[in-house]
This record gives sequence, structure tokens and C-alpha cells, in this order.
Amino acid sequence: MLPVKSIGLLMPPRYFLLIVLLCFCCSAIATDNNIKEQVETLLTKMTLPEKIGQMVQINAFGGKIPDELKQRLREGRIGSMLNEVNPQTSLEIQRIAVEQSRLGIPLIMARDVIHGFRTIFPVPLGQAATWDAELVKQCARLAAKEATSAGFHLTFAPMMDIARDPRWGRIAEGFGEDPYLASVMAAAMVHGFQGDDLSAPNTIAACAKHFVGYGAGEGGRDYDTANIPQGLLRDVYLPPFKSAVQAGVATIMTSFNEINGVPSSGNPFILRQILRQEWGFQGFVVSDWASMEEMIEHGFCSDLKDVAYKSITAGVDMEMQSSAYADHIEELVKKGIVPQKLVDDAVRRILRIKFQLGLFEKPSPYSAKQSTKPSEAALKLAKTVALKSVVLLKNEDGLLPLSKEVKSIAVIGPMSDDPYEVLGTWNRDGKIEDTVTPLTAIKNLLGDTTEINFAAGLPYSRSRDKDGFAKAVEQAKKSDVVLIFAGEEAILSGEGHCRAFLDLPGAQNELITEIAETKKPVVLVILAGRPLTIGEISEKVKAVLYAWHPGTMCGPALTDLIFGLQSPSGKLPVTFPKAVGQIPIYYAHKNTGRPPHTRKLMMIDEIPVRAYQSAPGDAARYLDIGYLPLFPFGYGLSYTKFEYSNLQLSSHRIELGENIKVSVDLTNTGQMEAEEIVQLYVRDLVASLTRPVKELKGFQRIRLKPKEKKTVTFNLPSTELGFHNSDMKYVVEPGKFHLWVGGDSQSGLKSEFEVVKSKGKDR
Ligand code: BGC
Repeated sequence: MLPVKSIGLLMPPRYFLLIVLLCFCCSAIATDNNIKEQVETLLTKMTLPEKIGQMVQINAFGGKIPDELKQRLREGRIGSMLNEVNPQTSLEIQRIAVEQSRLGIPLIMARDVIHGFRTIFPVPLGQAATWDAELVKQCARLAAKEATSAGFHLTFAPMMDIARDPRWGRIAEGFGEDPYLASVMAAAMVHGFQGDDLSAPNTIAACAKHFVGYGAGEGGRDYDTANIPQGLLRDVYLPPFKSAVQAGVATIMTSFNEINGVPSSGNPFILRQILRQEWGFQGFVVSDWASMEEMIEHGFCSDLKDVAYKSITAGVDMEMQSSAYADHIEELVKKGIVPQKLVDDAVRRILRIKFQLGLFEKPSPYSAKQSTKPSEAALKLAKTVALKSVVLLKNEDGLLPLSKEVKSIAVIGPMSDDPYEVLGTWNRDGKIEDTVTPLTAIKNLLGDTTEINFAAGLPYSRSRDKDGFAKAVEQAKKSDVVLIFAGEEAILSGEGHCRAFLDLPGAQNELITEIAETKKPVVLVILAGRPLTIGEISEKVKAVLYAWHPGTMCGPALTDLIFGLQSPSGKLPVTFPKAVGQIPIYYAHKNTGRPPHTRKLMMIDEIPVRAYQSAPGDAARYLDIGYLPLFPFGYGLSYTKFEYSNLQLSSHRIELGENIKVSVDLTNTGQMEAEEIVQLYVRDLVASLTRPVKELKGFQRIRLKPKEKKTVTFNLPSTELGFHNSDMKYVVEPGKFHLWVGGDSQSGLKSEFEVVKSKGKDR
């Protein structure tokens, strides 16, 4: 037989590529068949209790292995464990399972690796603000490398819950309000974590969570009820999950909430019909922490036995932390209430992932070591992503960037030198000794040449202790310019940490006000896990940078931006409200019959006293705050200026099934090389169900030198223009559309086009 290389020489390159691709597909199919066989063989050897054991995931015992745990491992009654961070313990647990249980099935060791393992990247909301899928993928790749070397095989990430309510603390963990942006980011993270080969020693199984509608809890309260009409569910809340499934995500986690009266862990409609039948998901479904047991509190299950019955029937394969499966499935199967097939199917799916992970290979590709300091490459990546996540919200008189020649700077605020809080929520394995704070980074950059006058002013973000104010004001007065690092501590966002007020917590507003009264030019940098209502306080300062919780390389990233080594380029992945009373507020809202932008309306102070009560002519808005947000979705300034021109469509009339090529010229008309995120939005003007006023359909991050011009093109397939109609069918309805290309969701060049029926087809 000729070696592959010499075959390649004898034929045109495209045929050679085709053969390589075919070989690759054939070997993937062969591996898949192989795994199928191995799973079936193992399954035939398993007793019912051993099968049920695979469906059980328990929390670790903090580095200990109690006798009861040893016993359960030997009996094959545990399939997976989360949170064992001691490498020796983790290896010992695995050794007991593999060497001392009858069938030697290894455990899946799991951990929440949400935005980095040892190296902490910006919280996912910040990563979404980069609009840079490749970068987000690289972060997940690196996190996978670090987490696998510590012995983990599964991360409970990415979270892709659409969040349109910043009171919800978990908004920090997801990709914001938009299904398109979230879908792109979800796929990027899945690819990053899982790579091309789950069995490689440095890839980790991902988990798309929380399925589904968790971000739609009433009032922005965690765990609260979500009522989501099916069309909205399919058009807004499900797409990121579908995208993760298409990206090959290994596992899915159910959510805590109910949707329309049915808690997710007992919902066959979402778990069986949508996930498995419609999307063909092949991996396994794990419940959220005790979310199965909590169906009793929901009033959906009478007791733990009922929980076991409803969850397995609905399609949950593995139970996290509660014990409904461990305690009741055996009896339910023996009594014929739960068909054995349901258990077999669940175990099949779990074993399949274990084989794909290579857990049965000897020697196992996984080991468990204590994490070491982040590598140079990891820190470089952490700095790049933090830098690209920061959004410049205001820059009066071009105060930013500051000159490095500045003589004296005051560094004020509770977030300026806190290595812990800047890491954000779900920092499990990052270490504060790795963090470079803003103060340290500023000293590193300018320490020899500039007088740096530091005073935190407040010891932490919630503090009301004003003892430090006088020193802070004094430092500001001595300085040419003031940098204030304010925001929220890490614990104020994330799970269970919802807020009714979204101001800067504690006495931070007062601190900023007192500093602003010195009349020194002030740059305010906000570090927070969610949008905050910073409208009024922003008016008191000249410049505002929104940095989310940026992670390990917080300081160097911010310093590069503040002193103009790079231009800010992040764009908001979520709308910023002016006040809590405007929530929910998101760009893709409906127009209503009375859209406020079409008329001039009296604000509260303009309405005459004892005015005659009359509503006609008014609109969907508030008397006291209007209808516009503080900052729209997609918004973000730059140190340079970008000009959009020459919007072109390949056709203004296309048939269903055809694509439109959209192009626009982007010019950097400013003085600095920088990146712009070019965004494409459409609106379906008339449909059988009303459509949002704008929907994001594409974006690109473009880097341009001063005066450089580039034509940016998008391919817009007509198949992307659809929605779920009243029969819950995805349809693209013929008709007129508007289209915009621009730098945020409220501006842009506008055009229009029409979609017509393709000949001989209705839809
Ligand atoms: C959270 C999940 C997380 C799990 C395991 C739950 O409380 O909702 O997102 O993955 O705990 O830590």
C-alpha cells in the first residue's frame, strides 16, 4: 500500500483533502461504534443497583474519604462526584472505584470552572462584552487545560441563560440578553472546553446550563417562577442551548425554576421532546444541585419517590446531590412503575460520555496535580480578554486616554487594590496571589515617574464607614487627575445574590461625589457583575469605563486602556437601565400599538396640575424616566472614531431560501489604531405574530489603523429570518424587512429588503 503522503502526490489537492476528511469521518464513526459496543457490553454485566449508581452524583467530603463513601464506591453506587479539589483524595477515590468495585467503572470528577480555573478570566458577561468568539474559545481551552491537570473531567459551564433583568445575580454568569450573541458564545465555550477529542488529557466535558428559562425568574429573583410562552421559549431562551447541542456539548443541566407550572427537572416537554427528539441530543442530562428534591417544595412532587419517578420519566439521567434515584429507583423498577429501559438509557448515555472521555483507558489520560501559578501564556490571554471586555461608556473632552507623562495621580476606591473582589463570582480555584490589582499595575507602569496618591476611601464596596473619605479627598486634591475604582464585591452577584437596588452599594456614590467636588478630572472605573444604575453618578465624572469583574489580569488590562496603549473596544451585551423601575428593558422589544418614539410626550414635571385625565395619544413609556435606556445593547465608545458608509445589499428582493450579502465600509477616521464591533440587525415589519423592533443577526470585530478603510461583509441567509409561529413551526414569512448595520443597537445605516415566496412553495 502506498503511504498516504505519496497518494497525496498523485492526485489534485482537493481530492486528497476529501479522502483525508472521509478517513477522519470513518474513524470517528468507527470510534463511535466501538464505544457503543463497549457500552452495551458493560451494560449487560451490570446489576440494577450498579446501574443506578451511575446515575448518582455526590458532593465531595472536603478532602476526606469517609468509610461510608469507600463502601459506596466499592459497591459501584456512585457515578460522579463534584468538588473534590485535593488531588491525592481525588486519585484515591478513583483508585477505589476502579480497583475495588466489581466492574471498575471510573467516576466523572466535576467542578464549576465558570470563567477560568487557576487563571481567572472576566466573568462570562464580561467575556460576552468582547464579542470575540475566538478569544472566548481560547479562554475555555486554557481553563480546560488547567482543570484537567487538577483531575477534573467535567465542568458545569457554559451557562447560557438569557438574562434581561440585571437584578438577577446570575446575569454575571451568562452572555447577556440576546439569543444570537449568547448562541455564538455558547458554541465557542463548548468548543474551547471540549476541543476536538474529549479523550485528550487536556479537554473537559462541558455542560450547557440551566435548561431552561432560569434567567426569566419573576422580579429578577433567583430560583423564581418563569412563565414563558412557547414561542418566546423557542425564539429567545432555547437557541443558545440548541447552539451548544450543535457544538457537541456532552452534558446539559436542568434549571431550578419552573416554566409555566412545571419544574425543569420534571419536564418531559423540554427534556424529551425538545432536547432529545427535536435536537437529537446524545449526551446526558444532570439535575442542578438538589433541584430534583426541590420539586417537593415546588408543589410538583409529593415525596422523594415521586421525585425519582417524575425525574427519570422526564429525562434526567444523573441526580446531583439529592438522593431520590439512590433511594427509590430500584423499588420503582422492581414494582414495574419505572420501565427498566429508562434506567438503561440513562446509564447508556452516562457510560458513553465516560468512554468518550477516555476514563476507561489504561493508563488513564487524567491525573490530578496541585495547580501551579498561571503560565505566561495564560496571563497574556487573561490580559487580552479583560482588555477587550472593557466598555468605554463616557469620555467627556477626550479625557481618556491619560498621558503617561502625568505628574500625579490619585487612585481611590474600594476596588483599586483588592485582589479578591475583582475576580468575580464563581471564582473557585483562582488565587489572590496571582491577581494584579489596578494599583499595582499603575505602580508598575508609572511608579518611577509619577506621584501615585492612593486612598481606598472605603474598605469594601458595601461599607458605609466614611472615616477614609478625608484622606481620599486629600489625595485627590494633591493630584492632577483622579482614578476611582468602584463597583460591587464579587459576592453581590452570582447565585442567590439578587438586588432590588442597582446603585453602587454602600457609600460609594457619596465618596465619588466628594471627590468630584474637588473639581479634579475624574475617571470612574466600575468593576461589577451586572449593569448598575450609574446614570446620575456618571454625570459627576468625566469618563466612565465599565470593566465587569475582569479577573487575574484586571490591573494590567485596565492600565493599558487608561494610558492609551490600547483603545477600549468592548460593547454592552446587555441593556443598561436608567432606573430599576425600567426593568425589564432590552433592545429586542416589541413595537406595541403606541411606540413612544413617534410622538413628543409630556414628562412628569410638564403635566399641568389637575390635568384632565386622558390617555389617548400616550405611549409605552414612563412619565418620569421615558423609554430609552441609559446605554443601549451593543453600545461602547472608542478612543478613535469609526465611520460607517456605503451600505450595500446584494439584492433588495430575495426568494425564501436565498441569502443576502450585506456590505458596509468602515473607516477609522480618528488618530488611533483600534477595534470596532460591527453589528447587523433586522426587523420583520409584518408577520403573523408580531416581531421585535430589532434582532441581532451578525457581528464582526474589525481592527483598523488610523485612516484605514475596510469593506465588511455579512452573509445573511433568509433561513435566519424566521420565528416560531402559532403552530410552533419555525417559519420565515415573506414580507418586508428593515436592516441596519452600525456600532450599537440604537444607531446604524439603514436599508430594507423583501423576502418573496420561492416559486412553487408556500413557505
Ligand atoms: C448551581 C449550578 C452549579 C451547581 C454545582 C448549583 O447551585 O445552580 O450552576 O453548577 O450548583 O456547583
